[in-house]
Formats: sequence, C-alpha cells, structure tokens
Amino acid sequence: MSSTEFTEINSLSLSQEQLQRVVVLTGAGISAESGVPTFRGETGLWRQFRPEDLATPEAFADQPVVVWEWYLHRRNLIAQVLPNPGHHALVELERMLGDSFTLVTQNVDGLHRRAGSQNPIELHGNIFVNRCGRCQDHWADDALDFSKLPPHCPTCAGEVRPGVVWFGESLPAAAIDQAYSKSQRATLFISIGTSTVVHPAAGLPLLAMESGAYLIEINPEETPISRLSDCVIREKSATTLPLLVKKLQSLKNGN
Ligand code: APR
Repeated sequence: MSSTEFTEINSLSLSQEQLQRVVVLTGAGISAESGVPTFRGETGLWRQFRPEDLATPEAFADQPVVVWEWYLHRRNLIAQVLPNPGHHALVELERMLGDSFTLVTQNVDGLHRRAGSQNPIELHGNIFVNRCGRCQDHWADDALDFSKLPPHCPTCAGEVRPGVVWFGESLPAAAIDQAYSKSQRATLFISIGTSTVVHPAAGLPLLAMESGAYLIEINPEETPISRLSDCVIREKSATTLPLLVKKLQSLKNGN
C-alpha cells in the first residue's frame, strides 16, 4: 500500500519511464470550474433531482418527455459554457505524449472534445448524441423533429434518446475494454475530479495501481482512492492541472 502524500506538484518525484503510458481519468469535477454542475457535491445535480427519475431506462419508458426536457435543459446549459484551463492542459499533455497518452472520461458534456482532445474514451456517452433506442442509429439534431418529444427515428420510427449511459445500463463494450486494457498497462494514472464511486470507471485507478502505475489524484475532497494514491493534490483542477502538465513537460524534456 503506497503511503499517501499530500505533496506539492514541484516536489513530485517521477521518472521519464513513467511517461511511457499515461492514462487520465476525468469526472464531473474537471468541468465544475466551467460552470457545469457535478452530481454529488453540495450543488450537485443529484441534490436537485433523483437519478432514478431521470437517468434510467425505466424513467425514459415511463416519462420520455420529462427525461428529454431535462437533457435538453442540460444541453442548453453546457452549450453556453467553455472548456477551462484543466481541459486545455490535457490537450497539451496529449500533444506532448502522442500515442503514450489515453484520456478516459465519465463526463458526457463533450468539453474535452471542444477543448481539442482528439479521441477521449467517453465511458458514459455524450449528451449531444441522439441515438435510436430501437435500431441504435445515431442522428444529428437537424435530422430529427424536436417539436414533439420524444423525437422518432427516421429509419425505424423508434423513440430516439440521448446518447448517454443510464444507471442499470452497460457501458459501450469497446470503450470499457479499451479503458481496462490501457489502465492495466499504465505507468502513470492521473484521476481528476471524480468521487470514484460509480463502477466500472471507479475501478480503473486501482487496476492501474495494482499493475504498478504511479497514481496521482487531483480532487479538493477525499475519495476512496485518496489513501491508496502515491500523490494527492487536494486542489481544484483548473489551477493545478496546468502546473502538473508543465512539470511533466519538463520531465519529458529531461530538465
Ligand atoms: N476540481 C477537481 N475536482 C473537483 C472540483 C474541481 N474544481 N470540484 C469538485 N470536484 C470533485 C468533487 O470533490 C467530487 O469528488 O469532483 C468530484 C465529482 O464527483 P461526482 O459529482 O460524483 O461526479 P463523478 O465522479 O464524475 O460521477 C461519476 O456518476 O452520476 C453518475 O454518470 C454520472 O459520470 C457520472 C458518474
């Protein structure tokens, strides 16, 4: 069990070898400073709404209009915010490390893509995707009629739903398989802004650590992996992630 160190970034001791396979896992916390509410914090979404009422297949079957209205409301909110320096720092890291870098996100807000991340593994889908619940076809907004909810699939007339993973649903197989295999081989795993309570994503940091990865957590609050992390940065990500990435850049340059 590695000891937990509340350490400043500049005292972080990492080797160049540990930059060989870097995996980053993000949760709602990385988007908090963009103005996107988290789920479980004081002002989290699950404080105002019950997930079982809005984020389950049963809820959509019972009240598709209410569920769509909630997702359209969230889409509208997210469309008005911007990626923050934490998202941009991960784009820098991806540019620096190329194929040695993997970004896995639980977020459905699409802010990593808007910041410029090339291929984030979106474990829980993307709120801006429309997917037919029957034939699984994906549709752009302008191909659907949102004047009467739920929209219907132009191919099979099935009910179209938001392209996110709801509670009780399995994650996209390709996404979770890739996340597992990358985490298993990681040399450095950075967990950012997640309460680390929703599996299977919550198991990725431990899988990486058990495979020998150096585990860094960035979160202003304690989580179940804090005590197991090699380094805990008890700060918000928009300020600290750019500093951490600068540190990794100078490590890569051999400084
Ligand atoms: N910087 C970094 N972390 C932050 C910040 C910040 N500025 N603000 C809050 N946090 C941390 C909180 O301390 C908390 O640990 O972000 C975490 C957010 O936790 P949750 O709201 O539980 O979000 P997340 O971990 O992404 O939830 C996982 O649960 O409801 C489902 O599908 C949903 O993907 C989501 C999953």
